[in-house]
Amino acid sequence: MFNSSTKAKYKNIFMKKIIVTIVICLLAFNMYAQTSKEKKMDDFITDLMSKMTLEEKIGQLNLPSIGFDVTGPVLSKDVEGKIKRGSVGAVFNTYTPDAVRKLQDIAVKETRLKIPLIFGYDVIHGHKTIFPIPLGLAASWDTALIRMTARAAADEATADGLNWVFSPMVDIARDPRWGRVSEGAGEDPFLGSQIAKKMIEGYQGNNLSADSTVMACVKHFALYGAAEAGRDYNTVDMSLVKMYNDYLPPYKAAIDAGAGSVMSSFNEINGVPASANKWLLTDLLRKQWSFTGLIATDYTAINEMINHGVGDSAHVADLALNAGVDMDMVGELFLLELPTLVKQNKVSVKAIDSACRFVLEAKYKLGLFDDPYKYVSNDRSKEIMSDDKLALSKQAAEESIVLLKNASNILPLKPDTKIAFIGPLVTDKRNLIGNWSGAGDWKKAISIWDALQQKPQHKNYSYAKGCNLIDDSLLRKKLNEHDAQIEIDSTSTPQQLLDNAVVVAKQSDVIVAVLGESFGMSGEAASRSNIGLPDNQEKLLRALQATGKPVILILMNGRPLTLEWENENINGILETWFAGTQAGPAITDILFGNFNPCGKTTMTFPVNVGQIPIYYNAKNTGRPFDANNKYTSKYLDVSNEPLFPFGYGLSYTSFTYSDITLDQNKLYPGKKITASVSITNNGNYDGYEVAELYTRDLQASITRPVKELKGFQRIFLKKGESKEIHFSITENDLKFFNGDLRWTSEPGPFKLFIGGNSIDCKEADFQLLH
Ligand code: NOJ
Repeated sequence: MFNSSTKAKYKNIFMKKIIVTIVICLLAFNMYAQTSKEKKMDDFITDLMSKMTLEEKIGQLNLPSIGFDVTGPVLSKDVEGKIKRGSVGAVFNTYTPDAVRKLQDIAVKETRLKIPLIFGYDVIHGHKTIFPIPLGLAASWDTALIRMTARAAADEATADGLNWVFSPMVDIARDPRWGRVSEGAGEDPFLGSQIAKKMIEGYQGNNLSADSTVMACVKHFALYGAAEAGRDYNTVDMSLVKMYNDYLPPYKAAIDAGAGSVMSSFNEINGVPASANKWLLTDLLRKQWSFTGLIATDYTAINEMINHGVGDSAHVADLALNAGVDMDMVGELFLLELPTLVKQNKVSVKAIDSACRFVLEAKYKLGLFDDPYKYVSNDRSKEIMSDDKLALSKQAAEESIVLLKNASNILPLKPDTKIAFIGPLVTDKRNLIGNWSGAGDWKKAISIWDALQQKPQHKNYSYAKGCNLIDDSLLRKKLNEHDAQIEIDSTSTPQQLLDNAVVVAKQSDVIVAVLGESFGMSGEAASRSNIGLPDNQEKLLRALQATGKPVILILMNGRPLTLEWENENINGILETWFAGTQAGPAITDILFGNFNPCGKTTMTFPVNVGQIPIYYNAKNTGRPFDANNKYTSKYLDVSNEPLFPFGYGLSYTSFTYSDITLDQNKLYPGKKITASVSITNNGNYDGYEVAELYTRDLQASITRPVKELKGFQRIFLKKGESKEIHFSITENDLKFFNGDLRWTSEPGPFKLFIGGNSIDCKEADFQLLH
């Protein structure tokens, strides 16, 4: 009856139906399993809460600091006593199996209801094995690698007693004066979102109760990176369209990836401090974004609302709880004020129950009710700083380093080159692991000098310190108060150090100057108004350059620096950030060509501080710069262009991009355009290239940025090799929040760019049609 092609067609349809049925069954089963798991959790917590007094419930909302680190302006007192009295839900700054066991013992053996504690800590770029600072990691554009670093950090943290990490920090940052740019992924919402997602996946896996996963904490919600004038803790004020289009996406990406907790930020949003901001925490986060995890404040953020001027201590506690805060970090105003506020009917028991439930749910999801000691194992010590983690740290360091300048291909250096290594950071270990290096032991970091000793083929070098890290006594004092351990050379004056360095430099073929910031010059509470090299280091660099020998500058720092003179006068510049435990081996491998640098900036480097804020995805203005027209947007004394743009980084080889081919130039909803380019490695080294895709919406109901990153691909090309790569663009990629905050696309003309950085791109035109 049927011919063979009709039979095949029916068979095909039949098979498709079976597959669809199986998928639907699996989804239904999954939903059922999920619902019954949630029901089990709900029942357990409802039962537990039915036994809790109001005081015990309020106790669960308390998050004091106890243990090894001090990470804020005040210290928590009598924490052990409070645990015993059931007045603590979680603690932070305690780790190691023994220390954690001691506190957990109190919670589960000496309290009435034996509710276990959560143990949190600032694990930001590694726990013991330290990876490059997050701004460095982001510069790798290798999201799979970043995920692995978060996974490794979770492994070590859980082996050391922890189950909650205050990471990732996903604040978009466009002002390098703000010291905390070192802790985030930079200025771009698209890249920031990709990284946020991968970090959550790395920390949490798909099962929070597994032995080696931790609960992540997305911070600082929200807009903390937009502090005015780059001054930490300062006021934030921004339009809703900027907030939705540029600043909120990475938080949302982290929530969508399943982040278990969120930390409210110190700043205000639309005039209301984040920790009192019901719109932010309840309407947006809980209702619109469906967040079901735990919301903790930042350190004493509730108390600080008194300084913000929104109320006295009772009122700010009331505001915070009713806004949606579940846990009060260090401030203890919940503990102090909530009992009375309930009696006065200002705070409902229902609101306290809701916060308490979120805390208990987090404990349940972590598996702590099954086994409060599940993260307290002395047997797991071999997982800490294991060979695979050290290898990952080296890989991450290599991939994060950005070659900013390489005049006449001065790098890599030949093995027999006579090199003078000059600078206070050549032998330094203390600074390599950067700020927020958690439990990392800087003594285990490998300096450039130590790494050189491990390279028997390279012996033709000398060393001079050249200068102290910082001569400015006031700055040194401030940094040393926070354990910067910046020492002044006691045997030589600054002038003697410099003179000696010049003598050593003159005997070399090439000078490698290793300079930068002390680790404490970036990070929290480390804003700077001048973001150049410290003056004494600048003086040394100029003296080295004056010898006439070629100079390579290796930078260690936590933010984009202003490097105008350096870029004009120094032959090679390598930005190594604070590259972590394996900084030395990674840097020396790059120096001698064993690894070809491939990192690219994720924050714009300004020419000078006056250009700040400067970022690639800016608006065009009505009078974009025109050199022939006075009345256009510009400075009289500096160009509008950055020193190094977003997405920029050189390689020892060179990559060329063909023109873009579009398979069509009209895009309809539900369809896609494919943009293709061929990339060729024209140089003499194999290497990685990050190809970046940007679009520009040329006509819209609200003004749109001149470029927006929409995709990137990290590809490896052997020397001489060409590869064609393809990017798909759909209507979704062109959507934005319009003036009514509706996520929408608007038909009209668009530009598409593909290139190796945000400035040097090939371009093509297309239309979006509805
Ligand atoms: C304050 C910082 O803003 C936050 O990032 C950190 O997690 C807490 N202190 C805890 O140390």
